[in-house]
Amino acid sequence: EYSKKPREQSWSFSGPFGTYDKGQLQRGLKVYVEVCAACHSLDRIAFRNFTDLGYTEDQVKTLAADYDVTDGPNEEGEMFDRPAILADYFPNPFPNPEAAAWANNGAAPPDLSLMAKARAATRGFPQFVFDIFTMYNEGGPDYLYSLLTGYQDAPSGVEITEGTYYNPYFLNGISLAMAPPLSDEIVTYDDGAPETVDQYAKDVTAFMMWAAEPKMEERKSLGFRVMIFILIFSCLLYLTKKSVWSRVD
Ligand code: HEM
Repeated sequence: EYSKKPREQSWSFSGPFGTYDKGQLQRGLKVYVEVCAACHSLDRIAFRNFTDLGYTEDQVKTLAADYDVTDGPNEEGEMFDRPAILADYFPNPFPNPEAAAWANNGAAPPDLSLMAKARAATRGFPQFVFDIFTMYNEGGPDYLYSLLTGYQDAPSGVEITEGTYYNPYFLNGISLAMAPPLSDEIVTYDDGAPETVDQYAKDVTAFMMWAAEPKMEERKSLGFRVMIFILIFSCLLYLTKKSVWSRVD
């Protein structure tokens, strides 16, 4: 049960023909890498996946080389660290989950790979009746955007747990253990997009949506072609039926 309904945004990936905005995904990756990756893992994404965002393999290799991953055992039977390559998964900032909880007042930062889907609550009547036709899939992103931009001072008289921050959009109470992660101008954009909390929140949310569903565009275009096929096939079946039964009355 959400304390407050997420504020609905317009996303490039909405609807049956929605697509990702690659420029936005690249900005979102930058926000994730420079801000969120300090605490949150992205376990299901490998460096090679970032070529989907419009980067060349060489660009991604350069990014991967900034990270160390543990490999091994080598011939001496020892584990060792080496710079990441395209095939490696994005390294977890807290390989030890207990350390993650200890460093964050007992609440471990959750993995962000599937977060955009995990927080996609279905809407109530009457919207849910239409949501299947409009391919409504933005509940998660609307929630994430609202959460990231929704930090406020607690209203007077409202008590919140020590070490937590008031945010009426949080789905599990009115405050959470994550301090507001974004503020204006903390990430530099080189494409002229505004360097504001609002823009960062939209971009990193779009990035989380891509991480949760990297093959969305293929799914939608295949789905559309299947519907056309079914339509034509139904007409053919109908005509066949008419012809086969034409002498029976
Ligand atoms: C929780 C996103 C940065 C620590 C969360 C949640 C999301 C999220 C979606 C889950 C909220 C829910 O359960 O509904 C992000 C994004 C970040 C970011 C997009 C970057 C812009 C950070 C940073 C830290 C952090 C830098 C650590 C300093 C936490 C913790 C929780 C959390 C401890 C658990 C909160 C609780 O359940 O009380 N974050 N986060 N996050 N995040 Fe972040």
